[in-house]
Amino acid sequence: GQIQRIIAHSHHLKRTSLPWLQPQVRLGNGKISTAKLRMPSQSLFNKSVALLFNKRSTRTRVAAETAALLLGGQTLFLGKEDIQIGVNETVRDSARVIGGMCQGIFARVGAHEEIEELARYSPVPVMNALSSLWHPTQVLADILTLHEHAYLFDSSIPRPELEPYSQRHRELPPVRPITVAYVGDSANVLHDMLVAYPRLGHKVRVACPENDKYRPPKAVWDRVVELGCDKNILVTKDPREAVHGADLVVTDTWISMGQEAEKEQRLKDFEGYQVTEQLCREGGANPDWKFMHCLPRKQQEVDDEVFYGPRSLVFQVSDNRKWTIMAMFDLLFGKWNLMDRERET
Ligand code: CP
Ligand code: NVA
Repeated sequence: GQIQRIIAHSHHLKRTSLPWLQPQVRLGNGKISTAKLRMPSQSLFNKSVALLFNKRSTRTRVAAETAALLLGGQTLFLGKEDIQIGVNETVRDSARVIGGMCQGIFARVGAHEEIEELARYSPVPVMNALSSLWHPTQVLADILTLHEHAYLFDSSIPRPELEPYSQRHRELPPVRPITVAYVGDSANVLHDMLVAYPRLGHKVRVACPENDKYRPPKAVWDRVVELGCDKNILVTKDPREAVHGADLVVTDTWISMGQEAEKEQRLKDFEGYQVTEQLCREGGANPDWKFMHCLPRKQQEVDDEVFYGPRSLVFQVSDNRKWTIMAMFDLLFGKWNLMDRERET
């Protein structure tokens, strides 16, 4: 229920906020309608969110900064060259100091343990903006995009008449159970897919090379099993087998941030894993399959035909990073209060 709640809240914030940015929409009959403006939640008014990023980011950073503004708050972008963390100061002390002045920490780290350490010592909530193991806010945007495009997977759902989004978009339709294929490296984005899609009733089929370092690590698989998701997941080394019956095909870079030195080896090991029309045709994907990628993208993992073609939902997903992060900021940072933490501890 928690994933659905965040998605519904993202949708609500998107349709209350977009009219502020773009108050006029063209209706199906060609007329122009001007929205009545209703303020989005101002739960971050007078509050500050630290963006503690020790790796590069385009989407996650821009989404966080623009979302916090709409909630009435401010962000502080703290890159690894800017602050003392890791060089002159421990993660533990940094968490206490930053958390003593801000109302939330959104952190992009290397090893996942770093975010655990931040969360342990921060007096305010800490949210994961990507770690070695997980990338939760990415998959929330994927799921919101699936809901907005539910009609692509189910002909009984009417295509929304209004483009762009407006306050007239009411509830999001449910997404019928689909088959999601992932072809590529077992990295942070896939790991969140493994613990999210089966809980929403979808099947996941994964192809990665038969080498432990390209397969889900134990910490991830333990969580998958704990949540009962493993029953709906197939892992194979054969990309054709993975895309069989797929409604949605997903991939990610073969060389994640921090793995640049392994580039040559990885390019060799992932040969044959590029997502193409031919691969999906030969594997027997649903002829109407759609495509997603968290970005940034390289041509090696998906060719231009698919990436820029009509199957691709990649830029709809990147737009939605903003609304799902806004929902998380609102719920976790804006509506949270210090007394909750005192009660917990
Ligand atoms: N998808 C994603 O997280 O992109 P950035 O690394 O640019 O934030
Ligand atoms: N797996 C990629 C995702 C980037 C958004 C990485 O960790 O670099």
